[in-house]
Amino acid sequence: MKTVVILSELNQELSVLERPVGFVPTMGYLHAGHLSLVERARKDNASVVVSIFANPTQFAPDEDLEDYPRDIDRDLELLKKSGVDLVWIPTVDVMYPEGYQTWVDVDQLTKLLEGSYRPTHFRGVTTVVSKLFNAVGPEKAYFGQKDAQQAAVIQRMVRDLNYPIEIIVCPIVREPDGVAMSSRNIYLDQDERVAARSLSRGLGLARDAYQNGERRAEALKKIVRDEVEQEELAQLQYVSCADPENLEELEGEIQAGLVSLAVFVGGTRLIDNIILGK
Ligand code: PAJ
Repeated sequence: MKTVVILSELNQELSVLERPVGFVPTMGYLHAGHLSLVERARKDNASVVVSIFANPTQFAPDEDLEDYPRDIDRDLELLKKSGVDLVWIPTVDVMYPEGYQTWVDVDQLTKLLEGSYRPTHFRGVTTVVSKLFNAVGPEKAYFGQKDAQQAAVIQRMVRDLNYPIEIIVCPIVREPDGVAMSSRNIYLDQDERVAARSLSRGLGLARDAYQNGERRAEALKKIVRDEVEQEELAQLQYVSCADPENLEELEGEIQAGLVSLAVFVGGTRLIDNIILGK
């Protein structure tokens, strides 16, 4: 497994990789969710490239860029064991050299859901992913359903900008108790970790209700809300039931829906989601 930092080294190593190349962008502090993307990329491609970059432009000034967990040695060990060929670990200077001023912005999808609470977040994501795609030039790229809106925004960007890259969205990997794996789970203390179960528990109850015939968007959202609100340590930010394609909020009877939520548990913001009816 090769590790590179600057673009000339990256180009050198890419030129000797067997095609097709599968690409997994990450911010590091890897867990089984990230590794599931790597595993899928390994199955589909002759070579696998992973990037590790805690992208400053997708964090708002009051968010956790400074504290974002890092353990590069452990990450590299895990990637090596997973059969990755090349790891790109750009520095902030490599990605955003002095004078940087160009942005990629997906207009509408990014204003909904997460975007209404994190208004500058997706511009940072699409800009960095666009730069990563340009530099790596993979045939396929892998994203997690954990960040459902991110996956939808990237798919839109790839279509709108004619990237010749197939986007593959992989299922959410969960801890045995249902909590969606996230690098940010490390911030939770013991009691908060217990409270964090309410997200997936609420979504599970909504899925059960849907399977038993409940189709009203409001009723499905209320099930999730009630479950989270029982937890003293959990502060619900939003629960949504949206069209899985365009992410517009749904009302009344639904066929299919992306039920998603964001919750503060202590100071940690957690998200989770489930797709019903697909
Ligand atoms: P990061 O949070 O490190 O996640 C990297 C990829 O892993 C994303 O596609 C994310 O959806 C996926 N992932 C995270 N937790 C997962 C889980 N429990 N199950 C399945 N997949 C999971 O998302 C980012 O980084 C950044 O925004 C990035 C795309 C790298 C751009 O900076």
